[in-house]
Amino acid sequence: MNSSCTTRILGLGSHVPSLVVDNQSLSKSVETSDEWILSRTGIRERRIANEDESTSDLALGAAQQALSSSGISPSRIDLVIVATITPDMAFPSTACLLQHKLGLRKVASFDLEAACSGFLYALDVADAMLASGRYNIALVVGAEKMSSIIDWEDRTTCVLFGDGAGAAVVGKSREGPQLLGFRCGADGANPELLYQPAGGSKSPACSATLESRGHYLKMNGREIFKSAVRVMEMATRELLEQHELEASQVDHVIPHQANVRIVESLANRLEIPLEKFYCNLEHHGNTSAASIPLALDEASKQGIFKQGELGVLVAFGAGLTWSATLVRF
Ligand code: ACO
Repeated sequence: MNSSCTTRILGLGSHVPSLVVDNQSLSKSVETSDEWILSRTGIRERRIANEDESTSDLALGAAQQALSSSGISPSRIDLVIVATITPDMAFPSTACLLQHKLGLRKVASFDLEAACSGFLYALDVADAMLASGRYNIALVVGAEKMSSIIDWEDRTTCVLFGDGAGAAVVGKSREGPQLLGFRCGADGANPELLYQPAGGSKSPACSATLESRGHYLKMNGREIFKSAVRVMEMATRELLEQHELEASQVDHVIPHQANVRIVESLANRLEIPLEKFYCNLEHHGNTSAASIPLALDEASKQGIFKQGELGVLVAFGAGLTWSATLVRF
């Protein structure tokens, strides 16, 4: 199900809304505190989009940056994949809207939904499509306006999420970080651990779904916490084993940015020093599918990755889904 590959990251970009909402401001609308949020999650602040900014706008900013950093002409992009659980609308896809906003050729464009694992799933899919020889250069984006599905009256969830987007231009090349392998998985046995119950075919929008606040994200935080640590450890171990690598050989881990305690537990279980984990959740919260590309872009801009170093990108999300990607910088 997984294979080695020679796809490389040719450019990275990210974009976040300008509005910063810190824990203090949230404590004015729900019963919470900076102390509780920071100690339980590691989050200090998050970016929140304004009413006029949709997911495709955030994706546009990140994609433009990734294209510009790649030095590749937009006319050479022949595949667009947007990972998101907060599309502009149910259909058409956010990828189609982005293709038009970027002025790309009329190339294959579609959304992929794997919640917080979405960007890594999309990289895996892009790599397979590039390997088929039918596509040459893909634009892969993770973009979310989580604020549009958050119940701002629910203190157990509203403090956790933020809005943003990250993007990568990927293609076959001799230069740039190399995608060495992927490990994706899912277990749909308990969808209600993290879900948005209403608005789909099972429970279409009506006055009752509005009244029950069914259009907002619902989560069993404790169970998700336990599953997150377990599946991210499993995906990382399987990926390393598949490539005959030891955890001690990993130079960098870019984990899904949900909760610093999840990251600490993962580091402990994998016996990889915490210093090797890149974290920016303090400033962004959990941006779902945008989390990994946003962190990857920030870390890359900070010059953290040295040529030849080995990195693991690892995520979990609603589904449950999980995914790990091996990168040689
Ligand atoms: N402020 C103050 N108190 C709060 C808040 C808040 N914002 N939220 C919950 N509490 C209270 C609870 O009501 C509870 O009170 P009680 O004991 O009187 O009932 C108490 O704090 C403890 O609640 P817990 O849920 O046990 O707190 P916990 O330490 O587990 O932390 C958290 C909760 C932060 C949600 C944690 O479980 C977590 O991070 N889970 C993983 C969530 C996650 O990663 N989700 C993203 C999935 S990715 C995707 O696909 C979108």
